[in-house]
Amino acid sequence: MRRTAALTGLASLAALALAGCALIPGSVTSVDEPEFTNELAIPPLAPSRVVDGTRVFSLTAQDGVTEFRPGVETETWGFDGSYLGPTLRAGRGERVTVEVTNDLGEPTSVHWHGMHLPPAMDGGPHQEVEPGATWRPTWEIDQPAATLWYHPHPHGATEEHVYRGLAGMFLLDDDASRAADLPQNYGVDDVPVIVQDKVLDEDGQLELSDDGSEPGTLGDVVMTNGTIGAYQEVTTERVRLRLLNGSTARTFQLGFPDREMDLVATDGGLLDAPVRLDHVRLAPGERAEVIVRMQPGETTRLHSFEADLGGVVVPFAMGANDAFDVLELRAADELAPSPEPAWQSSAHAARDALHEDDAAVTRTFELDDRKINGRSMDMGRIDEVVDEGSTEIWEVRSIVPMPHSFHVHDVQFRILSIDGDGPPPELAGPKDTVYLEPNRTYRLLMRFDDYTNPDVPYMFHCHMLLHEDEGMMGQFVVVEPGQEAGTPPSRGHGGADTHQGHH
Ligand code: C2O
Ligand code: CU
Ligand code: CU
Repeated sequence: MRRTAALTGLASLAALALAGCALIPGSVTSVDEPEFTNELAIPPLAPSRVVDGTRVFSLTAQDGVTEFRPGVETETWGFDGSYLGPTLRAGRGERVTVEVTNDLGEPTSVHWHGMHLPPAMDGGPHQEVEPGATWRPTWEIDQPAATLWYHPHPHGATEEHVYRGLAGMFLLDDDASRAADLPQNYGVDDVPVIVQDKVLDEDGQLELSDDGSEPGTLGDVVMTNGTIGAYQEVTTERVRLRLLNGSTARTFQLGFPDREMDLVATDGGLLDAPVRLDHVRLAPGERAEVIVRMQPGETTRLHSFEADLGGVVVPFAMGANDAFDVLELRAADELAPSPEPAWQSSAHAARDALHEDDAAVTRTFELDDRKINGRSMDMGRIDEVVDEGSTEIWEVRSIVPMPHSFHVHDVQFRILSIDGDGPPPELAGPKDTVYLEPNRTYRLLMRFDDYTNPDVPYMFHCHMLLHEDEGMMGQFVVVEPGQEAGTPPSRGHGGADTHQGHH
């Protein structure tokens, strides 16, 4: 697989630097689709049925053909379609089941990124779904309203599966979000925006660089929900964009050249109050919900600005100098009124809150090129054992001048500090993934409730998917206090309580 590539990380960078700056693969200075003439594709809301009180969704991973460019057939993968997947939506307190069928020619898995759920339902590398099989995870939604997402997580092949198109959104609602003064008419004034960059070769096929060069594949084509040069008609004074960086490697710095936006939610849900921003930086896997104000008849474009990646080496080779238009917003001549963004905290807020004083354990994680704490991912090794109910501080630091995006399964964390300073307001809300500026220490506060299982681990990893695939991942189990770690299931055979059947 890709891991056979001899050049990794700094070595390949040094080679690139020596080769001069002229021809860095994937490095572009500015790419603007001249025309934004394609209506933004809105992923349909997934249908569901209720069986014995459980909301049941179905998703089928399949291959297909997508016309990103008119008349050019690109081979892609998608859920229930040729590219990306439908938007799943459920409310706090609901029990859900997702029937995941794999119609691909190779194993995959589907992970519910940002979801608090039992490890055997998590869809990580231990819950692979064989070709032709159906996997039926079930769990209760028990966390605040948020913009989550789902994507494959097969060991060593996540980058390719996501890049080909397997990803979708999973929206959660709760009482507070339903009652909020926020745009919430899906696809109208509440718009999913999955931002991805691609390389399309001369034949219009998706190209993934396989030479192991940092930081993975940086594309010169940007698509939104699979639409290149997309526009969205706006019919209200305010529009809510649910931004997801669904790229494999690129960090975007998203905003508008001519206006500020109100950030209302991060990965795990609503902030305490809106934060006015020029732009928001999103590393692979991160989400942000922003409210944009429009005047009647005007047009503006969501833009990806040159990114501030912190102290990375050869920033232009990491895509820092690239700039893209992403999505055009076209306001109608008359706009329906939208309220000023406002919301009350949920009835569960006190229970959900994290308190630094409760933290009894501090763990440290040092990320280098492809390893965490000097170790490469091993599916048979449990790296961390966490007591159920405990609050912990994870101190995470990238010790190489490379970009990394740190993600923890099962929990939403709060960033206590970055190099000792409090986080900026856009990083003060609930998070499950965070861009790590090199050589800075991020202190993350999290609590591990429910769902003990000494044998089936959750993952923590870099969400730059080449890094993840090449080993920058570790495993933790949540156990009854005092219990010891067990033995992870062997690859591809799910957890003790997963059910695989052929259809
Ligand atoms: Cu979005 Cu472990 O992944
Ligand atoms: Cu995840
Ligand atoms: Cu990384």
